[in-house]
Amino acid sequence: MELFLVAQATLPAATPATAPHTGFIPGSRGSLMLDVVFLAMFLVVPVLLWSVYLVKYRQRYQLHKQLQIVLGTVLLLAVGAFEIDMQLFTDWEALAAPSPYFDAARKWSCPVGISLLVHLSFAIPTLVLWIVVIVRALRNFPSPPLPGPHSVWHRRWGMIATGGMVMTAVTGWFFYVMAFVLTK
Ligand code: HEM
Repeated sequence: MELFLVAQATLPAATPATAPHTGFIPGSRGSLMLDVVFLAMFLVVPVLLWSVYLVKYRQRYQLHKQLQIVLGTVLLLAVGAFEIDMQLFTDWEALAAPSPYFDAARKWSCPVGISLLVHLSFAIPTLVLWIVVIVRALRNFPSPPLPGPHSVWHRRWGMIATGGMVMTAVTGWFFYVMAFVLTK
């Protein structure tokens, strides 16, 4: 009996009260990948705006091409790693549980759920659009790139792709703070 009581007092509970914390941003409950993507977007957005500035005002077509391909590759890798993390390793609902804006019973209609839906409604079309803009640019501009018949299409959809990425970052930051920083 005594042994049983000691064992009961020392064994960890079968389900931990809080989700394991793998992230590194102080004051946040984010997982490692959530924190990496949250911070990476502070680098991606200025580099993207710089790349558009370079092509628009400095005619640096080749540098713009290289920057956009690097950004596109980084984003594909980040999204891939993020999805693997979310599907296999991280239970984001458990990490969001202490937020005053999360309610597990109303996962998609509480403020955190709505902010995630808004974020995804930018992130998913933006990802598809980036692939289309890059593939079309590589096929239709000469190498090294110069303005030509593809310019009109590319300038319009390039601007939409740029705006989509900025909104993906802003809505992602908002979701992250609501779900993983704010506490009841
Ligand atoms: C998702 C990736 C990309 C985005 C978001 C993007 C965005 C843009 C934007 C917004 C402009 C217009 C700037 C202005 O108003 O003058 C532009 C111009 C241009 N981009 Fe991209 N771009 C991307 C990828 C590429 C790639 C891969 C190439 C080359 C293969 C390229 C080549 C050019 C060229 C040559 C122009 C100048 C067009 C002209 O002024 O007539 N872009 N891009």
